[in-house]
Amino acid sequence: MTAAGDPPPRLRAEGVTRRYARNGTEIVALDSADFEAHAGELVLVMGPSGSGKSTLLAILGLLDPADAGQIFLNGEDVTRASEDQRAQLRRSTLGFLFQDAGLIERKPILDNTALPLIYRGLGRRERVNRAQAALEAVGLADRMHHAPGELSGGERQRAGLARAIVCDPDILICDEPTAALDAETANDVARRISEMKERGAAVILATHDRDLMPMADRIYEIRHGRITAGART
Ligand SMILES: Nc1ncnc2c1ncn2[C@@H]1O[C@H](COP(=O)(O)OP(=O)(O)O)[C@@H](O)[C@H]1O
Ligand SMILES: [Mg+2]
Repeated sequence: MTAAGDPPPRLRAEGVTRRYARNGTEIVALDSADFEAHAGELVLVMGPSGSGKSTLLAILGLLDPADAGQIFLNGEDVTRASEDQRAQLRRSTLGFLFQDAGLIERKPILDNTALPLIYRGLGRRERVNRAQAALEAVGLADRMHHAPGELSGGERQRAGLARAIVCDPDILICDEPTAALDAETANDVARRISEMKERGAAVILATHDRDLMPMADRIYEIRHGRITAGART
């Protein structure tokens, strides 16, 4: 139940559908999915490989348009936003972390983390201060002058997480960020991602790691593009 006056979900999708054409046939990668994520929640999107997790996250993250359905960001209908508006909303509101953190190898971790702040028009000193704070939040303060190649897999994902949160996004979208890590490291990275909800973000995490389920506030199960369950835990 949502009482009148409650803030809207950070992100809400209604009936989103995405079809792909492949070898002349059409496949429905996402079929009428309903979804919501609120401030301060960790939301898991669980399903096997090929079930539609990345398709859903790309639509929720305004990276890819849906063929049908609606998307609401902080209560505002953004379904028909232009490409420029979507890019602007991504920069102002969303943070992303993928299976590969996608760090720039020839730049130290500090510069990698500070990069998104350039779009904010902040001066160098302010960018460095904020990047340092984000690296401290993920336990990497002692690594900030290292190049990505000098970091372990878990540390690289933590650096990617620092870069994803440096602008204080309302919504943090993580697509299988622990898939390439061993179980213990994966758990540490997932726990650090989960901590970002304390900053008031809605954290959305796609995974097939069932060990993460106890951390979640809301869990969606997806099979063949259909959400089969979605409830607060
Ligand atoms: N660009 C694309 N073109 C054609 N089919 C795609 C494309 N992206 C994803 N698919 C298909 O859509 C389905 C869902 O894929 P995806 O969302 O990547 O699943 P998951 O992230 O759960 O592994 C799969 O059958 C996949 O092959
Ligand atoms: Mg995927």
